[in-house]
Amino acid sequence: MDIFDKCKTDGGYFGMFRARNDFFFARPILDPLPGREMTYQGKKVIQWSINNYLGLAENEELRAVAVEAARKYGPGAPMGARMMTGNTQKHLDLEAKFASFMGKEDAILFNYGYLGVLGTIQALCDKSDTILIDKLAHASMVDAMFMSQAQFRVWKHNDLDSLELHLKRINKDRKGGVLVVTEGVFGMTGDLAPMADICYLKDKYDARLFVDDAHGFGVMGPNGRGTGEYYKCLDKIDINLGTFAKAFAAIGGVAGSTHEVCEWVRFNARTQVFAKSLPMIYVEVISRALDLIANGNDRRAKMWNINTKLKAGLRELGYMVGEVPSPVTPVFVHFKDLQIGMAIIQKMREEGIFITGVAYPVVPRDILLFRMIPTASHTEDDVARTIAAYKKVRDELHLDLAAVKAAYIRHEAEKKAENKEDDDKTEI
Ligand SMILES: Cc1ncc(COP(=O)(O)O)c(C=O)c1O
Repeated sequence: MDIFDKCKTDGGYFGMFRARNDFFFARPILDPLPGREMTYQGKKVIQWSINNYLGLAENEELRAVAVEAARKYGPGAPMGARMMTGNTQKHLDLEAKFASFMGKEDAILFNYGYLGVLGTIQALCDKSDTILIDKLAHASMVDAMFMSQAQFRVWKHNDLDSLELHLKRINKDRKGGVLVVTEGVFGMTGDLAPMADICYLKDKYDARLFVDDAHGFGVMGPNGRGTGEYYKCLDKIDINLGTFAKAFAAIGGVAGSTHEVCEWVRFNARTQVFAKSLPMIYVEVISRALDLIANGNDRRAKMWNINTKLKAGLRELGYMVGEVPSPVTPVFVHFKDLQIGMAIIQKMREEGIFITGVAYPVVPRDILLFRMIPTASHTEDDVARTIAAYKKVRDELHLDLAAVKAAYIRHEAEKKAENKEDDDKTEI
């Protein structure tokens, strides 16, 4: 067996699309200029699939800051890792600014959110510790867990009984520390982790909490400080992580915690200790973006207005839209044949509306999820055009929109039965 044999198969992630060299459903080629309207296959489309929550991707001032920083410092400055030659006062100042925004003593910058999750968890956990992870937590947390080599347990998605059961079991013959990890806003389906209750449980059982709030950071809560602020328990989250790839429309990530914890992570996070530091262009852009976000109530209000109108319009047509308090707008359709799901995406794009589909394992096998992101830069006219396109697609493809509700009820019942079986097997 040759290690490369697998490359000839249609296995692996999105293998079916790779095998047929698809550039429509996977890897669609878009003009890179991001915004509410984008160019796709030479045609303008309304874009609902980028995490540009606050509309900062189109912000001219941030572009000017980037151009000026590139002129001043070039594309690669500073050269080297933070430990060696890549540390600057501007990096330190930005960390202090984030600490204050996040309500923490200190904060650490990372080159990507993904690297922030990996680095922070790996730095803090080792073989003697246990990581307790939500079943639907993002891949970065799963990878971080493996990288740390800690023991791990998976708790049922957003199920507090399951979390408590595991905490009790771990404490029965506990060896090291315990880290509970979860997302704040679950990025695919838009539901929130019940943060205040999770905080209560982690304190009760003497554990620590890491929250990857990639989709809540800048967006949730009265001041955009994230899911913790929304639930009024920001101070109880031991380590809070945000990314700059979504509401900030840039690149990078930040973890906030106590000074002592941040110092430990700074010196032990392999993804940052052994990597070049965040370029000056991003340091400058993100610093300005943080000002806009901290004073961004108008942007958040615009985003919520578009969000409310889009969700209401889709529901009026009979589409099933998840009842979630985050900006993520998950639209679910049932299909007997994946071709129908693909036809919906194709027709919507022909109508000038760009959506993407998310399939199993994020949703059950017979359901397709259109994950839509209403942003502060969309207009009410964009919403009206999008609703009209969904109506046309519903009618032309004769979609049975009620079927998804029945399928969901069936899946929920199956899940409950499965969970009951698991619980019966679980001793404390
Ligand atoms: C929940 C979550 N965590 C982490 C990441 C990784 O963030 P970044 O793109 O900044 O590396 C993502 C990005 O998709 C995400 O959705």
